[in-house]
Amino acid sequence: MTDIPRISDFDVAGKRLLVRADLNVPTDGDTITDATRITRFAAGMRPLLQRGARLVILTHFGRPTAGDTSGEFSVDMLRPALSEALGVPVAFAETSNTAAALRQSNDLQDGEVLLCENLRLNAGETSNDFGYATALARLGDIYVNDAFSCAHRAHASTEALAHLLPAAAGPLMIEEIDALSTALDAPKRPSVAIIGGAKVSSKIAVLKNLVQKLDGIIIGGGMANTFLFANGAPMGTSLYEADQVETVAEIKALAAKSGCALHLPKDVIVAREFRAGARARVIDAYACPDDCMILDAGPQALAAFQNVLTDAETVLWNGPLGAFEVPPFDQSTVLLARSAADLAREGLATCVAGGGDTVAALNMAGVADDFTYVSSAGGAFLEWLEGKTLPGIAALSGPAKAA
Ligand code: 3PG
Repeated sequence: MTDIPRISDFDVAGKRLLVRADLNVPTDGDTITDATRITRFAAGMRPLLQRGARLVILTHFGRPTAGDTSGEFSVDMLRPALSEALGVPVAFAETSNTAAALRQSNDLQDGEVLLCENLRLNAGETSNDFGYATALARLGDIYVNDAFSCAHRAHASTEALAHLLPAAAGPLMIEEIDALSTALDAPKRPSVAIIGGAKVSSKIAVLKNLVQKLDGIIIGGGMANTFLFANGAPMGTSLYEADQVETVAEIKALAAKSGCALHLPKDVIVAREFRAGARARVIDAYACPDDCMILDAGPQALAAFQNVLTDAETVLWNGPLGAFEVPPFDQSTVLLARSAADLAREGLATCVAGGGDTVAALNMAGVADDFTYVSSAGGAFLEWLEGKTLPGIAALSGPAKAA
């Protein structure tokens, strides 16, 4: 990814940087419940402001219907948090009327910031409309994409816009690409992935790509049930996908061909019902009774997985091992997260994680800060694991335009 221009290499003094951020933060009413995306974005922008850049910030927020006038999806409510994180006041521009936004962007002084209204309130954003991108392009002198977590979307602000102005990646984009490339494209070996979550069907492309790149994959969650089922294990009332047996066979064949070891749980935690505090017991992974469901990996499995990690130099994590939101079925996820965090903290392995559930699980285990890198991306992280070219990144690598 060294061919992507970086905004840190540009002379930004007095320039209007048109920055695509991802300020799509979780909220409860008017309260931001997790400001991580804002604080990480702002950390990369502060040095640019100090160098005299003028920021025009573009973002989406939620998935509104274009033209929505309810105010529910306005990004105006993000301004106080953004202003605090950037350390400067943040002005606001309506983008339904780009002529007014243009005047505001032209009036910006060095070190000043303008936040534009939710891009998705205009239909041109998600349709990657060239006309909409052209109107947005007038708001800046240099385009900066700092939204890795939106790079899987070919939208006007992530794709078309990159072809209309001198374009560069922002600091957070570079940080994400560097961390993920280190873990996936040039990993120190042995390299292991922990892939969990409910369904094999949602991660077929991820598994098929990873078995060809890594030395081992620990499979957890409902996905492990489907692998066990394909091996002949009874499932009782467990979540599994009977129609994915063929896919499992394909993944196993690819893994065998490339020498990637697939690690399945040898024992599991089962219960009759899925609720907090339900009576749970440990059984062999091939002995689930008719009236029970598998809800977590068992202690033997956990010990085996911890051994796999101990030997690894690179660990890539996406998806929980069990139904971690409901105790006591959080145990293997929490304990394996702590083992990976210990390795990262001691510098024994590079540990990179991503995806909404995974980040929630690491936070629950209290170890998110100990991982080498935790991606702020969900869908983009998964598509990266699939080995796809992300349109928002590809657009930055196009022919350079003069600044
Ligand atoms: C995300 O939250 O993963 C990004 O902001 C992308 O949002 P989207 O899935 O609505 O495009």
